[in-house]
Amino acid sequence: MFKISGTGHALPERIVTNDELSTFLDTSDEWISKRTGIKSRRVITDESLSQLAARASLNALEMAGVKADELDLIIATSCTPEKVVPGIGCMVQELIGASCPAFDISSACSGFLMALDAATAYFKSGRVKKMLVVSAENMTRFVDWTDRSTCVLFGDGAGAVVLREGDNLLSIKMHTHGTHGTVGIEGPKGNSPFETVEWPERNSCTFMNGQETYKYAVGAMSGDIEEAAAMAGIEPADIDHIVPHQANLRIIMATQSKLGIPMERFCTGIEYLGNTSSASEPIVLDVENRKGRFKEGDIVAFAAFGAGLTDGGAIYRW
Ligand code: ACO
Repeated sequence: MFKISGTGHALPERIVTNDELSTFLDTSDEWISKRTGIKSRRVITDESLSQLAARASLNALEMAGVKADELDLIIATSCTPEKVVPGIGCMVQELIGASCPAFDISSACSGFLMALDAATAYFKSGRVKKMLVVSAENMTRFVDWTDRSTCVLFGDGAGAVVLREGDNLLSIKMHTHGTHGTVGIEGPKGNSPFETVEWPERNSCTFMNGQETYKYAVGAMSGDIEEAAAMAGIEPADIDHIVPHQANLRIIMATQSKLGIPMERFCTGIEYLGNTSSASEPIVLDVENRKGRFKEGDIVAFAAFGAGLTDGGAIYRW
């Protein structure tokens, strides 16, 4: 299958702290920190999402020592794309100077793992030797900034990995439960003269049943790590590092407590990122990788959940 030969990320310049949010929302640093672990988030101002995605991709390519024109495929993931079409993958292809096919996956916060799962099929079939997965999200454009129960949770950013042939991915398993309703973003309001249904909720803002999502997330993250570990023939206790989707520190801690794995093994960036949806795992992976956290042979687990509902886990040997 593949190995990760380069990681990269890019964040918008603008930092928005919880205290800044409390200047225009009925909220506080105390509430947000205690309930979510978030202290600040990065917010897009004058950057474009495709520029962030391209910067993250170039960082990953540089680390991998791969030139953009050597890539055989780009898979981008975003549930908050800059345009409906073309996809972020096509825009990144142009910005980094690649010439390979590119397409997008929209699978909310599970997008990065869905892309890795798709990548396994391309490598297995021999159709690619070098590819880029880039996850980029502009969640702050798709929230209602007057709704304190959702807007305080999200941030923007992009993360990327360059994949080459290798046997380091030991297992991956994705799930979808099309139980629409727990969390989502409605499509844009159209102006078709033929549409006869009123869609007042079509405001393109994130809606969420927080507590239902929370319960689902904890069960899914721990179950997916156990399932991926069993597929790889290891015990959860053998995992050296876990890179979970960063939605809420309490979800990560509850997952930790269910699995009985020490908290130090969980990579977290929620405090300075907020929830950056599919970008959260590759961002945190790159931040920790550049600190030298992962040693050759270390077992790294990934786990994610998101709108769909979708979820999944993977086990990777560094
Ligand atoms: N500041 C202050 N008070 C607030 C805020 C806020 N920002 N938001 C809500 N409150 C209030 C509520 O109004 C409520 O007040 P009340 O008791 O007077 O009615 C109280 O705080 C408690 O609200 P809850 O919703 O019960 O708080 P909870 O402990 O469940 O935390 C949270 C909410 C953080 C959203 C949590 O449920 C959660 O993290 N859920 C999972 C979210 C998630 O992972 N989403 C990922 C999907 S995103 C995607 O896929 C695109």
